[in-house]
Amino acid sequence: MPMIEKEKIEEIKRSTDIVSLINQFVPLKKVGKNYRALCPFHSEKDASFYVNPDKGIFYCFGCKKGGNAITFLMEYEKLDFPNAVMYLAKQLGIDIDLTKGMKYRELYDVNELAAQYYSLCLGKAVGKRGALYLEERKIDPGKVKDFRLGYAPASGGLTTFMRQKGISTERLQKAGLMSMGRELLRDRLIFPIFNLSGRVIGFGGRGIDDYIKPKYLNSPETPIFKKGEILYGLYQAKTAMRTKDEAILVEGYFDLLSLYQNGIRNVCAPLGTSLTEKQAVLISRTAKKVNILFDGDFSGIKAALRAIGVLINAQIDVFVTSLPEDNDPDTFIHKHGVEKLGQEIASAQDFFQFYKHVSRTETVEQEVTVIKDLIQIINTIHDPIRLDRYMKYASRVFNIPVSALEKEIQPAQQETPKPLDEKITQEQRIIAMMFNAPDLFPVAREIVKPKDFKEGAIRDIYSLLLKTDTFDVDTIKNAQVRQRIYALIMKSEPLDREAFSQALTRFKCGVEENRIRTQIREAQARGDEVARKKYMKKLNDFKQKMLNLPVETVTTESDVAQ
Ligand code: GTP
Ligand code: MN
Repeated sequence: MPMIEKEKIEEIKRSTDIVSLINQFVPLKKVGKNYRALCPFHSEKDASFYVNPDKGIFYCFGCKKGGNAITFLMEYEKLDFPNAVMYLAKQLGIDIDLTKGMKYRELYDVNELAAQYYSLCLGKAVGKRGALYLEERKIDPGKVKDFRLGYAPASGGLTTFMRQKGISTERLQKAGLMSMGRELLRDRLIFPIFNLSGRVIGFGGRGIDDYIKPKYLNSPETPIFKKGEILYGLYQAKTAMRTKDEAILVEGYFDLLSLYQNGIRNVCAPLGTSLTEKQAVLISRTAKKVNILFDGDFSGIKAALRAIGVLINAQIDVFVTSLPEDNDPDTFIHKHGVEKLGQEIASAQDFFQFYKHVSRTETVEQEVTVIKDLIQIINTIHDPIRLDRYMKYASRVFNIPVSALEKEIQPAQQETPKPLDEKITQEQRIIAMMFNAPDLFPVAREIVKPKDFKEGAIRDIYSLLLKTDTFDVDTIKNAQVRQRIYALIMKSEPLDREAFSQALTRFKCGVEENRIRTQIREAQARGDEVARKKYMKKLNDFKQKMLNLPVETVTTESDVAQ
């Protein structure tokens, strides 16, 4: 696969200021040499996300995610590698042609072509059933152009279309559009699913006949399509969500289209499953407030109750619009008109009232349960002022003193390890030092050999380091090892040449000493007195030599901590 030239990537990495990059997304605070923030990749109360400008890396001591500017963009903006590089290049004004190097290009291509195919069909005789169905559901194709709806004919045809475009069935399979030799979506209305850059990454399909099972069928997850990490309609709704600073969350594709074509455009929907933490985080990046507009039935209410917790945890203000029991937003519009729905939306209850309202609290015990549930949800709010406001609100609503509510919240749910205080082994410290001094690799090569390390992972990394001169942590395939290394680098301090070589020598001496001691023990075990004496002498000589070594001048945090 053709890739972006390595030098270009290196240049981009070198030129990028990781602090100002990340600061665009996550407000950073300076603490000593590092910058710190609440981690954008997991929810937490105490900031354990660190960025180090000199090393050009970030690391979260809570969720253990770490990386450089490129990996940050890949994670945070859900970009693939080439697009992340492109993003940085653009900011730096560096020119590159990326189309050649796209990692997931084939998948994107296949999805795009499939969207074109389904959309073509909808406009032709073969798609008559689809067009009629849309009409029946009162969707005006002209008003929902942005969604690129389509129709997958019962007779298939995608395979032939793709063959003409030079795309093999194997690639269709990889994109999830074919399985066991058959096209996945047939006689279904097609909803292309877009990522945040507006590229098609997957499909949902509604069976035209109501007896078709399943009613909705989504294409399977692929490397570019992760259902829990995207919302239907988010791409189209982004701007409106940002302007209003509010999102309306619906359950279904049709609810969404129905609202959209009636001018309510800040709508998105989780993809048929309950709202995930990642989806909530995605929403929170565009809107501070969410209005949940789920079906009025029991399962809609249950889903809403679940979503509340997830959204509050993502620091979103949550309101809920309740619909009559046999309505969903789509049917409500058809029955009562969009103005009426607009009124309902505008008079949404805050999640608190909704929770209280829908929970049956006929007995004291039931009421206690509801209160406790709500307090736990509130407890995930980071902003102390908001938290305080909600506690007082709860106190009023349930007529309970704030102090009693506060007792319910376990103090300091410290599930995240305290930053910067994990113990580092001697071996790990050596490796971290190496990363901080790539220009000193040759020095290390002279002193320490891979076999000097006891820990397997460390030994492997060290061997790798010796082989290459510009070593990129991200090339470590084992995710756990990679994370550890990021943690180590974040914790270690750069050393000058002298201190570096001293530390290595000291380490090497320790290894050497252990080796001789083992030899002594072995000789003793064998009863080989001659050998034992020989090794004892070796040990003494060795210790003598060590005494002449300069005193260690470097201290690191772990020394301080010990
Ligand atoms: P219509 O009957 O077409 O109006 O659908 P709806 O949107 O009212 O469906 P419903 O309320 O039953 O479900 C809401 C959403 O859940 C749908 O839009 C789908 O995204 C998803 N969903 C519903 N049924 C299925 C199913 O059988 N399989 C999958 N994967 N998703 C489903
Ligand atoms: Mn519905």
